[in-house]
Amino acid sequence: MLNEDKEEITCSCAQKYQEFDGTCNRLQSPRDGSSFTCLTRLPQQSTLTNFPCWNDERLFQEAKRIVIAEIQMITYNEFLRLVVGPCYYNNFLLRTLQNGFYTAYNPNINPGMINEFTSACFRFGHSTSQSSFIEIQSSGNRTNFKLRNNFFHPFDLYNGQTELLVRGLADQLAQKSDNFIVEDLTNHLYRRRGKMFGLDLMTTNIQRGRDHRIRPFVD
Ligand code: HEM
Repeated sequence: MLNEDKEEITCSCAQKYQEFDGTCNRLQSPRDGSSFTCLTRLPQQSTLTNFPCWNDERLFQEAKRIVIAEIQMITYNEFLRLVVGPCYYNNFLLRTLQNGFYTAYNPNINPGMINEFTSACFRFGHSTSQSSFIEIQSSGNRTNFKLRNNFFHPFDLYNGQTELLVRGLADQLAQKSDNFIVEDLTNHLYRRRGKMFGLDLMTTNIQRGRDHRIRPFVD
């Protein structure tokens, strides 16, 4: 999953955002890397250990099913419940079922994203990011690291950082969704190592709203 390739930048994320140091991986921060690693550990352990006779394809498909189930459980059962509140959560049948299968799927509903949703509304998540992330050692000792110093630099995950960070993420709350956003995203987004400043995510959001012709509050 991790790519330590230090070659010339060729991936599309790098072409779009030129501010990072050429390590062409898709992991914005070690936080993302540790979460993704955590999601894939369960299927890795349960399928590889319990079903040694499965071929590569079967292993892949079964592991994929488990990862999808994990993501759906977190997204629907935990995240969306908090984001949309109990009223919409129940009215739109977003609840995860205790047993049986979801039968309300409607193939006639267009699943495409509404412009206002991706260009503006769902970007509310940017205000919930912390500026620094806690790492908890097995002894319980805590350290932390700044987001601004670690964009596209997940390489300490190779050196035991994963467990520390997963413990920290399980313990640390996201910020409240509000009008404020941490400086790591407004002045230091994708900052190149050794540089003073990076990009500004809020400016990008506002400009993207203009690109997409999102209507202003007053017009
Ligand atoms: C440290 C955390 C995050 C970083 C560094 C980050 C960074 C970015 C960047 C650079 C973009 C592209 C901006 C553009 O070119 O218009 C973007 C888009 C977006 N982000 Fe984030 N983001 C973060 C967290 C989140 C969270 C927590 C959410 C929602 C819960 C979120 C929702 C979105 C959405 C909906 C878009 C637009 C996607 C699209 O139009 O395809 N982001 N983010």
